[in-house]
Parts: sequence; structure tokens; C-alpha cells
Amino acid sequence: MDDDAPTTIDRYSVRGLLGKGAMGSVYLGFDDKLGREVAIKVIAAGSGDEEQLRQRFHREARAVAMLHHPNIVELLDYSGQGAEQLFLVMERLQGTTLDKLVEKRTLDETQAAAIAYEMADALGHAHDKGIVHRDIKPENIFIEPSGRIVLTDFGIAKGIDLTDKTFVGAGTKLVGTPLFASLEQLTQPQAVGPRSDLFALGAVLYNAMSGVFPYPADSLGELLRALRGAAVPLKSVVQVSGTFDALIMRLLQSDPAARPQHAREVQRALRGVLEKARVFDLKAEIRGVLTGQKPARAAEREAAPAKDKRSPRKTLIVTQRTLAPARPAWLVPVIAIGIATVAIAAGAVWFLR
Ligand SMILES: Nc1ncnc2c1ncn2[C@@H]1O[C@H](COP(=O)(O)OP(=O)(O)OP(=O)(O)O)[C@@H](O)[C@H]1O
Ligand SMILES: [Mg+2]
Repeated sequence: MDDDAPTTIDRYSVRGLLGKGAMGSVYLGFDDKLGREVAIKVIAAGSGDEEQLRQRFHREARAVAMLHHPNIVELLDYSGQGAEQLFLVMERLQGTTLDKLVEKRTLDETQAAAIAYEMADALGHAHDKGIVHRDIKPENIFIEPSGRIVLTDFGIAKGIDLTDKTFVGAGTKLVGTPLFASLEQLTQPQAVGPRSDLFALGAVLYNAMSGVFPYPADSLGELLRALRGAAVPLKSVVQVSGTFDALIMRLLQSDPAARPQHAREVQRALRGVLEKARVFDLKAEIRGVLTGQKPARAAEREAAPAKDKRSPRKTLIVTQRTLAPARPAWLVPVIAIGIATVAIAAGAVWFLR
């Protein structure tokens, strides 16, 4: 275990270090009361306005506690108001983060669409509750062995500080968060909104498929200049369908008004891509991302002796939890007949008077 690791944090015993980030360390903890593992993110004491940070941490922890979604890490506890040391207790996740996976291999269009669909589901849920993630990047996207996608650091993520030295790696090379951030996030933090998360989603997908960035830059100045222009089309970097390229390029627009307006709109476009690829099981597709093996897709199954007769359309819709249910086909005629009946009855009453 890390030499500096505490042996306990509040009522949790510490069993190891899970990782380190810019804001502090994440420990593997154990909740003796409930008998389960947890992940504890301890925020390193920083410079700046401590009191303001504490207030904001407290407010955001309470906001994130309202989020309950299969694709969002569950917040279980936190240090509480007035605590000396700030920490968050989260469900312990398994698997790997997207950045580590993309180091090994980039994703194809269908894999990227499957992951994006789940991320858009999580973002739609949070945005509907008025919470913007603000730090969508591959390090904050977990892929669990079951094929579950989980977004971490929801809302608690700090606002981006352009002077933050963690954005510049060895020498002057730009690393981390800003390469996935929109222009408004880097220049006007008060203008950050749900569409800033959608931009970052586009940048993450672009990078996961190509290994490069839509607005290539070696310094913050260069990045800001690039962001005021147009992104390099994804189709000029990797093989991708026109539909998927168009979606990614819309997400990456500098002007938030030119991006899709809601995560659900992104999901609808992704559903088209997934249905065309005859993906019938999102989790199987995502498990394939981890193993490097393609699951048998519906088209292949149809060619093979029929073992699974489920239609890709039907089963994809089953996995979709939050889209508004389609209006049933019988609804319009039933309403029309109802209106006509009332009109005829009213006419008859008037005639017989
Ligand atoms: N809930 C969790 N369960 C298991 N491991 C986790 C969990 N949250 C974080 N980790 C691990 O801890 C590491 C550090 O996470 P952390 O969020 O501190 O850093 P980061 O996302 O890389 O950067 P940043 O500080 O900018 O958010 C992650 O890479 C991951 O391996
Ligand atoms: Mg993180």
C-alpha cells in the first residue's frame, strides 16, 4: 500500500490505493458496517480559496447524490459539511478506464456508438436534473467486465482553471482535460452547460476511434485558436460512415447552438447507427471492446442457423431505458373515433332539441 495511505477514513478501513488523479488519491476502502468494498476519493488540500472549495464541494456532493442511473457511479457518502478532510465515498468499480483501453486499441464505429449510447443516457439523466458533468474525458469513463459503462466524477469535477499545471505534461505538451473541452469551457466557464458535455462526448469518441484529437494543438494558445475554427473531419482520419461522421462533427461545433441540443437527440442518432450495424445487445458489444473480440451481430446470426430470432430493433429498444416510449399505433385512431363520437352525439342532441 502507498506509504502515505491512511489506515482508516471516517468509518471506512483503507485496503489499498486504486489510483491517483489531479485532485487527489482514490483508495480502496471497506465499509465494515455494510460489509462491502467502496472507493474513497480524498481531495488533496490545495491552494486557493479553501472555504469556497468546501462550500462548492458540499453543494455538489448533495446534487450528485440525487443522481441514480446505471451508467453513473453511485455516490454513497461524503465527508460532510465542516469536515477537515474532503472525501467522497463511491461504489467500487471494476474493469478499466477508456484511456487505458484506447492505449491498446482504438474502437470501431459500432463499438464507439455502443459506448456513446450509454454515456448519452447518463448525460440525459443528469442534464434533466440540472447537473452538468464538466469533465467528460476517457479517464472518467469506466468499462466494467459485464459491459456496463460508468461515468465517474459527475458534477464534483472542478471548473477548468487555465493556469492549472496538470494540463501541461513534460515540456509544453498539452495533456488531459483541455483536449476534450469546448471553447466556452476554456474561455467562459459561466457559459458551460449541457451542450459543453456533448462537445466533450464528441471529442472522447473522436479520440477513441482515431487516437488523435479533433482540434490538434501543442499548447493552450494553439488549442484556443484551433477551437475557433473547424475540427478535422473524422472521416479524413479513420474509416467511418457518413452518418456517424456527421454526428461527431455536430457534437464538435464551436458554437453550442450548432450542436445537438440534448443528449436524447444524440441517442436517437446513435440508435440509427446501431440498428444499421444490427447490434442487438449493447453490453455484448461493449464486452467485445474489452476482449478485442466482436460479438456475433444480428446479420451474422441470421446468416447462421437461427438460434436467436430476436430482431435487432426490438432488443435494442429494450436496452434503452430513458427514451420516451414510442406512441402506440392505435392511439391516434382511438382519439379520432372518440372526437367523432362526441361530435355526432352533440349534433344529435342539438338536432333533437
Ligand atoms: N469508483 C471507483 N472505483 C474504482 N477505481 C476508481 C474509482 N474512481 C476512480 N478510480 C481509480 O482511481 C484513478 C484516479 O481517479 P481520479 O478521478 O482521481 O483521477 P482522474 O480521473 O485520472 O483525473 P482527475 O483528477 O482529473 O479526475 C482512476 O484512474 C481509477 O483507476
Ligand atoms: Mg476521475
